Amino acid sequence: MEAIHTQEAHPAFRGVFSAGSSEDLAQIYDLWAVTYDNTVAHDLAGGGENHPTTGLAATVASALSRADRDGVRTILDCGAGTGAAGPLLRQHFSRAESIVAFDLSKGMLERAAARGVYSDRIVGRCPDMGPALAACPDGYDFIFCAGTFTPNHAPASTLESLANILRPGGHVAFNIRSYYFQAESSGFRREQARLCAEGRWELVADEERPYLPKEGVKARCFVFRAVIGSEMANEKRG
Ligand SMILES: C[S@@+](CC[C@H](N)C(=O)[O-])C[C@H]1O[C@@H](n2cnc3c(N)ncnc32)[C@H](O)[C@@H]1O
Repeated sequence: MEAIHTQEAHPAFRGVFSAGSSEDLAQIYDLWAVTYDNTVAHDLAGGGENHPTTGLAATVASALSRADRDGVRTILDCGAGTGAAGPLLRQHFSRAESIVAFDLSKGMLERAAARGVYSDRIVGRCPDMGPALAACPDGYDFIFCAGTFTPNHAPASTLESLANILRPGGHVAFNIRSYYFQAESSGFRREQARLCAEGRWELVADEERPYLPKEGVKARCFVFRAVIGSEMANEKRG
């Protein structure tokens, strides 16, 4: 299997890329939660902006029509972290009735809850999206994942799990470091190609944007639509 060489030099990444288990990774984020926003905005991205979140939100804003956005009632912020996306999601999807924050780290979710925009917060681990579905049994209209598909974080099999909790006609948006997406062993290229080939997803947007400018890292920002009718395929799969 092709090894993935991460490009970031900043010491903040040492633990997150090398954590040996999700429990260890959760603990690292629990400890990082208080300073996370500041580190990202000033040390990793620069210019005081959380590019991983704002870049993906900008892709979504240009890719989805007003009618698409007005039709969204239920949102899942998957790998929500400290909830940097929460206020942007509230702004872009003004008719949403619920925005659920889902994350491995309780400490990160506590920061997210303090923003006052999430209706629910769930400690969970991708690719097991069962707890997220339990919070919204009819499925989600929109799923947002910024920074969730970082090396050593949520695996590529999460895309299948997200496909299973997305309502037909709904959208999923996620970003992924360009070098990680290109690495065959990350599995993301293969998984999204498979979901499209099976007629379950169709591509709406694929843009490359600055991700962590201070580290010289760019990311691909994707938006996919769950094809109407694909729920029958999901049911057959069990
Ligand atoms: C790089 S941070 C991004 C946080 C936030 N979305 C943002 O843009 O600021 C990645 C987040 O994913 C969470 N995470 C990592 N692996 C996960 C998994 N398997 N399931 C759920 N969350 C995970 C981490 O706890 C962390 O909060």
